[in-house]
Amino acid sequence: VRKLDAKEGPPKNADESAAIVEELNQTFDVSLAQMKNISEQLKKEMQKGLNQEGATVAMLPTFVSGRPTGEEKGRYLALDLGGTFLRVCEVDLCGNKEFKIQQKKYKVPLTLKEGDFRDLCDFIAECLDNFIAELNATGSILSSSLSSDANVATAAGSSSNNSTHDISSGSSNNGVEPSPIEKYQLGFTFSFPLFQTDINRGVLKQWTKGYSCTNSVHEDVVEMLQDAFLRKQVPVNIAAIVNDAVGTLMALAYSVPETALGVILGTGTNACYYEKIKDIKKWDGGETLNDEMVVNTEWGAFDCERLVLPLTVHDRKVDRESLRPRQQMFEKMISGMYLGEISRNVILHLIDRQIIFDGYSSNDFNKQHSFDTAYMSSIELDNSPDLQETRHILEDVLSIPSTSLMDRQLVKSVCEIVGRRAARLSACGIAAVLKQSNLVTSGCTIGIDGSLFEHYPCFEANMMQALKDMFGPYISYKVKFSLARDGSGLGAAIVAMLAHKNSQKAAS
Ligand code: GLC
Repeated sequence: VRKLDAKEGPPKNADESAAIVEELNQTFDVSLAQMKNISEQLKKEMQKGLNQEGATVAMLPTFVSGRPTGEEKGRYLALDLGGTFLRVCEVDLCGNKEFKIQQKKYKVPLTLKEGDFRDLCDFIAECLDNFIAELNATGSILSSSLSSDANVATAAGSSSNNSTHDISSGSSNNGVEPSPIEKYQLGFTFSFPLFQTDINRGVLKQWTKGYSCTNSVHEDVVEMLQDAFLRKQVPVNIAAIVNDAVGTLMALAYSVPETALGVILGTGTNACYYEKIKDIKKWDGGETLNDEMVVNTEWGAFDCERLVLPLTVHDRKVDRESLRPRQQMFEKMISGMYLGEISRNVILHLIDRQIIFDGYSSNDFNKQHSFDTAYMSSIELDNSPDLQETRHILEDVLSIPSTSLMDRQLVKSVCEIVGRRAARLSACGIAAVLKQSNLVTSGCTIGIDGSLFEHYPCFEANMMQALKDMFGPYISYKVKFSLARDGSGLGAAIVAMLAHKNSQKAAS
């Protein structure tokens, strides 16, 4: 390992360069013993969360009990409030494990993420109103034959699904006359921790990721959004509020019944799974139709006490400078919102030690969050002999004055090492949930959504390798990862349908 001293400078040869990479590898290593310890500790924390309110890993009951059969039918709306976009979807559940989705994405302005929550609700109501008006104008929302429409994605099963079409380019109704719908039923995917008191009632515990709206924490977000619909006369009833992990689980379970976990590996990270109600000791929500319920773990908050996670100086710095220091520690080492920032800090440290870029950074690169996690993906994918794409990102986009090939190779190694650690830690999370739900031997399918899982090179392979390290090679035959791209919209619609049917049953 290279020594830290004042005489540091660029590596003079391949051996010196390899020594620097080795030093980084050691700093970011998560050994097998550490992985086992982390997953054991997380499992303990999950059990605490099942027993009592206020635990670090919140283990929130979702009021989603029962599993979809794939035979559900009906047309529902869904909203998905994500890190960057609000997605509005119209979901047609066709039965026979098939569904059709039309959707439109609206960029959420930064000011709304930090402003009064009522303004964000008004924005959501407006987008929804616009979506319904557009679909009514083209007729496609009400059309009974959607499959030939070029803007409608049709899929049986989510992994092959290409449901991210934007309807804004217009669609035709194939001559089918729209028929009026009195009131739409909607599932709202809300990707933040909620204390739910019913399937369509939920009080915001706290914001995570990039949001910090005022007048919202400890408020019922469904009531506030429904009020905005009333103010704007949008004829929509919020039938269910659903976490994105729960939406992902339900979406994949619609076509793959053995799906037992829903996992998000994107801007944030989280997981949910089916838990036996008798083991949710804190449950006081009364009778349920089934003996199991989906629990939203909110694992992103794990280890805020900093007992087991292998935090480096770079993680501590990223945490200290974040919107909410000392919160979401597990998420800060795994998710897309933070990986670029961790790498940026590692690279800055190499610059300060005169190891790369001749010791020069740039104003752009010095800015917090300037090194997007998406750049890490592109750099890892750059296999050109002189790493041209990496050069482009560093010099043209981030204005680093000049980079040598050795610099670029080192930057690539930083990305690989930080990304690999995130994948191994994610595997620790999955291992804990598999153990808690006794699925290690029987196996299951895990529905996963999020840009890291979908786009980050080697993330999936590194995660599976870590599971193999922990459980032996056969785990890869038992546990399957399956991409449920944009699944939370579909999942929210399924939950809205189940909730609406139950409320109709209760009323009759
Ligand atoms: C954050 C939120 C959680 C969400 C996850 C992924 O961890 O607290 O509710 O599921 O991000 O979007």
